[in-house]
This record gives sequence, C-alpha cells and structure tokens, in this order.
Amino acid sequence: MSVLKIGVLASGRGSNLQALLDACAQRTIPAAVAVVLSDRPDAYALVRARQSNVPAYHVDPAAYTGKEQYERELVRLLQAHGVELVCLAGYMRLVGSVMLQAFPRRIMNIHPSLLPAFPGLHAQKQALDYGVRFAGCTVHFVDEGMDSGPIILQAVVPVLAGDDEEQLAARILEQEHIIYPRAVDLFARGKLRLEGRRVYILD
Ligand code: GRF
Repeated sequence: MSVLKIGVLASGRGSNLQALLDACAQRTIPAAVAVVLSDRPDAYALVRARQSNVPAYHVDPAAYTGKEQYERELVRLLQAHGVELVCLAGYMRLVGSVMLQAFPRRIMNIHPSLLPAFPGLHAQKQALDYGVRFAGCTVHFVDEGMDSGPIILQAVVPVLAGDDEEQLAARILEQEHIIYPRAVDLFARGKLRLEGRRVYILD
C-alpha cells in the first residue's frame, strides 16, 4: 500500500505530533510525516520533528503582510514536501481560505472536547466548569469555523470527582493519542467518505 504524506502544523509541545510520528515509524498506519510547520519558534514540536529526521520549519506570521501571505508560505512548504493531508496538532490559529482552498477536505484537527460542546480555548476547563459527567476528544475535518467541521472520530472519558483541569486534560490526552493516528489511518486507507456534515467510515 502506498504511503500517505502528511504535514503537521503545531504551536506547542507536540505530543499529538509524537503520536503520529510513532504510528508512522512503527508502520501502524500507512502514512509518513513529510514536514512539520510551526508559527512559534520555541514549539517543542519542532524539536520532536527533527529528532525523527523530519524537516521542520518555523514560519513567523509576523514576517508576512497578512494572513493570506502567511498561509501562502505554509501552502508552498506543504506542497514542496508533497503533502496530501494536513494535520493540525495544537495549532493555535484559525485556518484561513488560502489553506482551505489548497487542501479541500484534506485538513484535520484534534480538539480536547466532545464537539460541538466546548469549542475554542481551555476546552477541558469549560467542561469541568459546566459540570459534565463525560468529556473527551474529537478529530474533525477543518472548515472555516472554530472547531466546527465534520466529525471523524470521538473518544469519551469520564470526569471523576476531584478532577482538576490538569488531571482531566491528561486523561483526555491519552485518548487523543489513540484516535488521531486512527483517523489518519482511515483517511490513508480511503475509508472516510464525507457527505454534507456526516463522515461515513467504510468497511
Ligand atoms: C491538545 O489537547 C489538542 O487536542 C489541542 O491542543 C493540545 C495540543 O497538545 N488542539 P500537543 O501539542 O499535541 O501535546
């Protein structure tokens, strides 16, 4: 089976990137991380990429005249590395029209809540403050909204008495590291069909 080239965009610690790198290296999924891009120079994700011999670039949004110019550079780098699927992994910016048009239905994101509940920042704290019994994570296709695109996979975790934000986030993160590689695997094997908002998983 051919190997799907993925590009990962990350702004921070990069544990989801690591889960993808590991799944690719262990050949658990028919994919390879071709390039990692970060809007932050100090993102540990860049270190993780280089440790795996994956090209990694800091692309500074402030160095461009606007979001479109910035995203054109992202697209240029992604295309130069033959990327077929873009994975956002803790990428702290809203994706704009330049990226969406360059990779239609080919951008995924992972979010630490059961969407459509608790989009945006501090999703785990939002869930705790709301008092839900179950939290979780979602992998979804990216559209122009904030954490609003078609849902691919979700995992549920219980909220336990006495949980603080950090404990709940850690329990959710364990599941993130399972479902993100799984979603990429399904995509790579051509098992995802998108109809309107619904994503069908083919046998
Ligand atoms: C994760 O919780 C992810 O769901 C969210 O940002 C966090 C990134 O963590 N989008 P990491 O950088 O992958 O460790």
